[in-house]
Formats: sequence, structure tokens, C-alpha cells
Amino acid sequence: MMGLDMFLFKKKKEVIGIDIGSSSVKVVQLKEHKGSLQLLNVGILPLPPEAIVDNTLMDSSAIATVIKILVASLGIKIKDVVCSISGNSVIIRKIVLPAMAQEELEDQISWEAEQYIPFDINDVNMDFQILSPDSYDPSKMNVLLVASKKDIINDYVAVFSESGLHLAVVDVDSFAVQNAFEANHDYNFEDILALVNIGASVMNINIVKGGITLFTRDVQMGGNLYTEEIQKQLGLSSEDAEIGKLLAGESHNEALRTVIIKVNETITQEIRRSLDFYNSTASEDRISGIFVSGGCTKVYKLIDTVSEKIGLPVGKLDPFAKLKYNEKDFDPAYLQALGPLMAVPVGLALRKVGDK
Ligand SMILES: Nc1ncnc2c1ncn2[C@@H]1O[C@H](COP(=O)(O)OP(=O)(O)OP(=O)(O)O)[C@@H](O)[C@H]1O
Ligand SMILES: [Mg+2]
Repeated sequence: MMGLDMFLFKKKKEVIGIDIGSSSVKVVQLKEHKGSLQLLNVGILPLPPEAIVDNTLMDSSAIATVIKILVASLGIKIKDVVCSISGNSVIIRKIVLPAMAQEELEDQISWEAEQYIPFDINDVNMDFQILSPDSYDPSKMNVLLVASKKDIINDYVAVFSESGLHLAVVDVDSFAVQNAFEANHDYNFEDILALVNIGASVMNINIVKGGITLFTRDVQMGGNLYTEEIQKQLGLSSEDAEIGKLLAGESHNEALRTVIIKVNETITQEIRRSLDFYNSTASEDRISGIFVSGGCTKVYKLIDTVSEKIGLPVGKLDPFAKLKYNEKDFDPAYLQALGPLMAVPVGLALRKVGDK
């Protein structure tokens, strides 16, 4: 498990996972019960279109209000929050360092990391995870370095505090998706899988093997691209373009479908570029499958295009697959519809404060 544990507690506490996506805020609360995970709460509330632009929290009071209403409407009493960042807000690098113990690296990480981070080291929050000894040179080890500018993290701290909550842990979208995947799907530890989460403005690509990240990249592209293209090509307002996108499966508007299929190809090409990059640099085996999540996986024919053009089996990540819940509390059909959008918040809710 990975994350920027800047505000670490000594004791493990109950937390809620809150995903501030650019199109909506999502909340999930889980509980461990007799070795299985129970779903206690799940909810989503849209954000105004300009509240988040280019990963920046532009309208923090609007965001705080949405969080407050969402948490209150679910009757959640817990104050400690795990959230995540992605895209331009975070730098993730796999680096090779001389082999050393965890504690030793904790002392040295700022110094070691300096050359990989394009900002003053005093302006960033950093975390790392030792992955494995280097396969060519056992005196070296692979380390995953995660860094974010302090002012970005401070924006999140402020938004949650304005909502009456306390930000306890900052994770990264692609790692949250990975945790949601691992908790809900059985997979072969030898398989190399690409986890692709396609949201409204960012696409998180995380190539994993047996619980370890081999490669990760965020691409600034997502569902907004469909809306923009529909708006431009069909001369619609952005509201009508958004509705057109959601209803394309049921409509027989050929012009609309043509635009969507074109964007499906653009997005697929971008995924393919990352997978090809990984395949061309990796010493490990090839990628054997893709699991997708994010609201865009509901776009008309996107999944078909990805599997056809990339030539790999594509599965849907189901973040509720192994969660226990009472059908009186949660309608299974509602959860199924919501599932694609909930990979990140489920992954966040899986973390306990104090985890590392
Ligand atoms: N039924 C649907 N059909 C087509 N697109 C959909 C559907 N439901 C949601 N989407 C699209 O999915 C996107 C939202 O997905 P998601 O909630 O994963 O993104 P986000 O977390 O808000 O954004 P990001 O992480 O990129 O900042 C929007 O672009 C939305 O239009
Ligand atoms: Mg998202």
C-alpha cells in the first residue's frame, strides 16, 4: 500500500475514503467484519463544472459544500479522511538506489530524491516504497518515489477542514484503483495486468504484477473530451453534449455515435501508447490483460474499442465484488451502475490510518 502519509496517527483509526474527482465527489466507508469487508456507506454528488480545472481546486468553497452535504446526507460521523491526488498534482518515479534499510532511506530520501523532482525539495511532500532488489545488480534496489507540492496538499487540507473533516492520508488515484482491484478480484500473481481508470479529465494507467507497480502514468484525457468534441462537431451546448454522451447507447443518432467512436479511438491510442512504452522498456513479461474502471468505461463502445485495437482481454474492475452488504441498505442494481465510478473511493476506504 502506498500513499503520502504526512499526517500519520500512532493508532489505527476508522476512516472514510473521499475521492474529489473533477466531475464529482465520491464517498465510501467500509468496515472489517470477521475477515470480510462490509460496505457501510457509499455516495456521490456532482461538482460544478469549473470547481476543479487542470487538477487544481479552483472553487474550494463549492467543493467543501458538496463534501459537507454528501457526508451529512449519509449520516457519516467519522471525521478522518483518506483522499487522493492524480495527474499533474503528483510525481511518481521508479528509481534505482543503493540497497539500504527502510529507516536508512527515510533519513536519506530527500537527498536521494532531489535529482528526480523538478521543484525545490523543501516545497514537496514525499513518500517512498521499497519495491525489490534490482534484478541485474543486487547491491541496488528499486524504489517507488511519490512526491507532491506542499501547496497542492495544503489546498486539500483546507477543503476538508472547511467541510468539518480532517485529512489524515493522501493517496494517489492509481494506487487506490490497485487496492480496490486487489481486494475484489482473484488474479494470478505472475500475470502482468494494466489497470486503467478513465475519469472525466484524467486517465490513470498502472501496470502491476503480484501487487507491485511496474509502471504508472497519468494522461490528461478523459470523458470531457467526448463532451467537447460532441459540442464542437454537432454544435450543441455542453449540457446537451454531456447528455448525448450518456444516452448514445440508446439513441440512433449516427452523427453522435460517429463522434464518440472517433474519441474512443483517440483514448484507446493513448492507452496503447503507454502499454507499448512499458512493453518496449520492461525486462518482465508482456501485459496479459486490462482491467478498466472510471465513469468513461460506460461510454458507448469504448471497452469494445480498447479490446479490439489493443488485442488484449478487457475486464471491468468491480470495486464491490467481494464487499458484503445488506440488500435492504443498498440496491444491487444501483451499486452495479455506480461500480465503475467507485474504484478510487473504495481503494481509499480500504486504507486504515497508520497503514503503510
Ligand atoms: N453512463 C455514462 N455514459 C458515458 N459516460 C459516463 C457515464 N457515466 C459517467 N460518465 C462519464 O464519466 C466521467 C466521470 O467519471 P469519474 O467519476 O470516474 O471521473 P472523475 O473522478 O470525476 O474525474 P477525474 O478523476 O478525471 O478528475 C464523466 O466524464 C462522465 O460524463
Ligand atoms: Mg477520478
